[in-house]
Amino acid sequence: MDTSDIEGDLSSILLTEEQIHAKIAEVARQVEIDYAGREPLLVGVLKGAVMVMADFARELRIAAPMDWMAVSSYGSGTKSSGVVRILKDLDADLHGRDVIIVEDIIDSGLTLSWLLANLRGRGAASVEIFALLRKPEAAAVEVDVKYAGFDIPNEFVVGYGLDYAEKYRNLRAIGILAPHVYS
Ligand code: PRP
Repeated sequence: MDTSDIEGDLSSILLTEEQIHAKIAEVARQVEIDYAGREPLLVGVLKGAVMVMADFARELRIAAPMDWMAVSSYGSGTKSSGVVRILKDLDADLHGRDVIIVEDIIDSGLTLSWLLANLRGRGAASVEIFALLRKPEAAAVEVDVKYAGFDIPNEFVVGYGLDYAEKYRNLRAIGILAPHVYS
């Protein structure tokens, strides 16, 4: 859906579909250079990363298989707890593989710093991160992100995989949710 379909639910549009796709193409060109002659395994983190994974994988001009994990870091609140549970593990054996974790957003950084350590501990040859969005003001831990898309303000953002109560993931753009929706 488009922003016009949810008029009033957003206080502003942060990134248009065109801006998102241009950034993904830019990152894909860099990854093609960095991984020339190799076949990186793209690891998507459900559910938020579905859109970025679908577009990034198709944009890449090199072979890049996909695998998926589901983790839970939020509990019932809206703040990260740092406690990460694996709800669905990878199918692939990471031994000797070059892994790129594909994420929609780094908020506190707790999920990805845990995931990075976890996947590195499985004998991967390398593990890097592509995160489309990053909130520098919300960082509780520093995460070494090789491919960072956009730094964004510490606001409640939805769209392009990002949800509020499972809504808005199918919005093409990324916008700031209007406070009246969640307060
Ligand atoms: C979001 C996002 C990251 C995590 C980032 O997932 O996709 O995995 O939060 O937050 P952090 O940097 O503070 O750890 P969420 O737990 O909301 O699940 P979802 O992807 O299913 O929406």
